[in-house]
Amino acid sequence: MANLVSELLRHGIYTRIVGKHIQYHEKIDSTMDEGRRLAMEGTENGTLIVAENQHNSRGRLGRVWLSKPGNIYLSLVLYPEIDLLPAIGIISSLATARSIERATGLNTEVKWPNDILVNGKKVAGVLMECSLEEARVLYVVLGVGINITFDTSDLSELSDTATSLTSELGAEVNRAFILRNFLHDFDNLYQSAMTGIVPLEEWKLKMQTLGRVVTVYSDDSCYTGVAEDIDEYGSLVLRFPDGQTSVFSSGDVSLNTTTF
Ligand code: BTN
Repeated sequence: MANLVSELLRHGIYTRIVGKHIQYHEKIDSTMDEGRRLAMEGTENGTLIVAENQHNSRGRLGRVWLSKPGNIYLSLVLYPEIDLLPAIGIISSLATARSIERATGLNTEVKWPNDILVNGKKVAGVLMECSLEEARVLYVVLGVGINITFDTSDLSELSDTATSLTSELGAEVNRAFILRNFLHDFDNLYQSAMTGIVPLEEWKLKMQTLGRVVTVYSDDSCYTGVAEDIDEYGSLVLRFPDGQTSVFSSGDVSLNTTTF
């Protein structure tokens, strides 16, 4: 299988922040762990770690993220100001969604907070791990996993909820093109976010969750209501049947078939 970073660099990347320093691993525990190790050594802002395979990869909320060769697994090390943290979640899922659409023509949706779906099934996920000291960010490791060829059909626990771009497109997908587009988009969006510009409206338009009855799982509890809005921090505003609202900054949602 062609080395993804060699393929990426064959046509160059044109970024100001991300990818000035790049590491490639055939196999690693997790690009998140490598990002953390590099951050603690003070690696350059925007350091990119790409792995062909990971043997200890993780997803959000302590879940396992299965890795197999042929997909995209990356982490970025960033040193943002604390105010930028909410924007990073928004722009990373948006850049992932845009890069998938550009490469495949498939329509993407975002399931709050930042799962990327095609035809209602998850094709990509974003994980953000932050190290904070009081109100200062020491570092952020941002992880993105995109299922390019991952065949979920033999995994009964995943086949209803997850898919891959190759399965949805019914044709081969150029993963280096997706990776390059992701890096370009993320780099541009990150620079804009540093000046206070975040494409919240574009993100909300992609948000499958809005206007639907959902159950939010957060801090070991679950809450059902209408996903009414996303606030400026990317938090979900849930309206309960009694008219009250709650705002969730983290958690997971499932769509309900019932209406109020
Ligand atoms: C999610 O739960 O949706 C987030 C999944 C994030 C997976 C990526 S793959 C690259 C990086 N390394 C990991 O161990 N996890 C992230």
